[in-house]
Amino acid sequence: MRFAFLTSLIALATGALAQSSSADAYVASESPIAKAGVLANIGPSGSKSSGAKAGVVIASPSTSNPDYLYTWTRDSSLVFKALIDQFTTGEDSSLRTLIDQFTSAEATLQQVSNPSGTVSTGGLGEPKFNIDETAFTGAWGRPQRDGPALRATAIITYANWLLANGNGTSYVTNTLWPIIKLDLDYVENNWNQSTFDLWEEINSSSFFTTAVQHRALREGATFASKIGQTSVVSGYTTQADNLLCFLQSYWNPTAGYVTANTGGGRSGKDSNTVLTSIHTFDPAAGCDAATFQPCSDKALSNLKVYVDSFRSVYSINSGIASNAAVAVGRYPEDSYQGGNPWYLSVSAVAEQLYDALIVWNKTGSLQVTSTSLAFFRQFDSSVATGTYASSSATYTTLTTGVKNFADGFLAINAKYTPSNGGLAEQFSRSNGAPLSAVDLTWSYAAALTSFAGRNGKTYAGWGADKVTVPTSCSSGPGGAGVPVTFNVQATTTFGENIYITGNQAALQNWSPDSALLLSSANYPIWSITVTLPANTAIEYKYIRKFNGAVTWESDPNNSFTTPASGSVTRSDTWR
Ligand code: NOJ
Ligand code: NOJ
Repeated sequence: MRFAFLTSLIALATGALAQSSSADAYVASESPIAKAGVLANIGPSGSKSSGAKAGVVIASPSTSNPDYLYTWTRDSSLVFKALIDQFTTGEDSSLRTLIDQFTSAEATLQQVSNPSGTVSTGGLGEPKFNIDETAFTGAWGRPQRDGPALRATAIITYANWLLANGNGTSYVTNTLWPIIKLDLDYVENNWNQSTFDLWEEINSSSFFTTAVQHRALREGATFASKIGQTSVVSGYTTQADNLLCFLQSYWNPTAGYVTANTGGGRSGKDSNTVLTSIHTFDPAAGCDAATFQPCSDKALSNLKVYVDSFRSVYSINSGIASNAAVAVGRYPEDSYQGGNPWYLSVSAVAEQLYDALIVWNKTGSLQVTSTSLAFFRQFDSSVATGTYASSSATYTTLTTGVKNFADGFLAINAKYTPSNGGLAEQFSRSNGAPLSAVDLTWSYAAALTSFAGRNGKTYAGWGADKVTVPTSCSSGPGGAGVPVTFNVQATTTFGENIYITGNQAALQNWSPDSALLLSSANYPIWSITVTLPANTAIEYKYIRKFNGAVTWESDPNNSFTTPASGSVTRSDTWR
């Protein structure tokens, strides 16, 4: 008994050691390869991106199965945000020309009319372009509304550095601000319209998109006031408040995770949510849960649920202890290109954990709440809720456990990175061999940002420390919206109530917990009036709650489209 216990302790310690030395070795060998991998994929002179205009980032040089020789606004902006962070912190001061080429390439792309529209009619939501800066006109999941927000964040980061370094005030105001403003105005005016998610598959609302839009409008408002563009500030701030409000509705309190999309009919466990925490990390915001900071109880609980969802779906994960790192992908139901683990998803988990460690170490303490308890029990099965100072043994146990867990994810990528260090998009769920697009620029950038997190590097925040969730949500831009009265005939027993929820922020985004209570003043007709966005496809259901038990109406969802103006009355009968 005692012997078995000791052996397993030793195994645990050796496992952890092996993991951290494998992560050390991987960071050392892969850093230069990943950096070179990013640069090779940027025009005009990247060695693997011939034909790409200056500053244009190709997603991958792969031209078939899949053909990724295009430039995506999302990938390009995330990649350049990483390069801009390296430049502005002095880690690589040689990047300035490339960054200037990126901003002007993006300025050109903004003006290219495309199947999503022109620059003023929705074209900014176009997900991808040809690498010669012409429109891609084939069928695609469009629009994708995270792109403009991510691009604004990248360019604002650079513009803030220019201002702080006393060079380029007129360049910032005359050249960069017009680019930034187009993107921010687009976010302000369209955030509450449906969007394809970052995986380009589900057309609904998406957590990652909402969160990066929120971030962009917040830092955009601050940036605009700094350069005297005060007229946009209140509009950006109002919609940022609405976005933050809406963001809360993705949290699923009963199951302890963030449901990634409002549509799609999946579990909702998705790398989308981990990527959100790392790309909206603000080291000044502590472990704030409203913005899902990496060390927040919600984001940690979410990380565990997300990671655990892959333990039994990939055979390369079999036999791995239930509290150790495993290969993870976009979402467990994925079947794209075989539905395998993704390098960038593995990196993202490691990065969230490193970011959390940065904040705990800075704060000098760590809090375990009932929400994050299951996460922390992976590292100390008897830990209780409470706050643990950095001088306590529990703090040491937990942070050591988290660090080893994080290193374990890098060790997974290390194990499945081929000997030349090349990072494709995926690696086989059954034997770990690289699969799908080779030299994926985003995979390299994700490796670099996770390594930076492991080295304790932090970058400029965006004001997440200064936000509070408004007490009531508005459905967003588009004026007052359309008042919709929902009447439903429903017989209930005493103590039972009827609620409504649906696919809109104003309908609480399919959350049974925050569903809206109807009035029984005209029983058996239950009624409520809700203002909804105009010209929008609405889906909704009534639910019953009785003694804590929730009963949904049977399928399908009720649906209708709101008109441009006026009001609507829905007369339903409970089914
Ligand atoms: C497919 C991914 O799902 C999407 O997020 C990405 O933008 C493109 N590939 C290009 O890398
Ligand atoms: C979850 C509910 O269980 C289901 O009934 C409803 O149709 C969906 N949310 C929304 O599509």
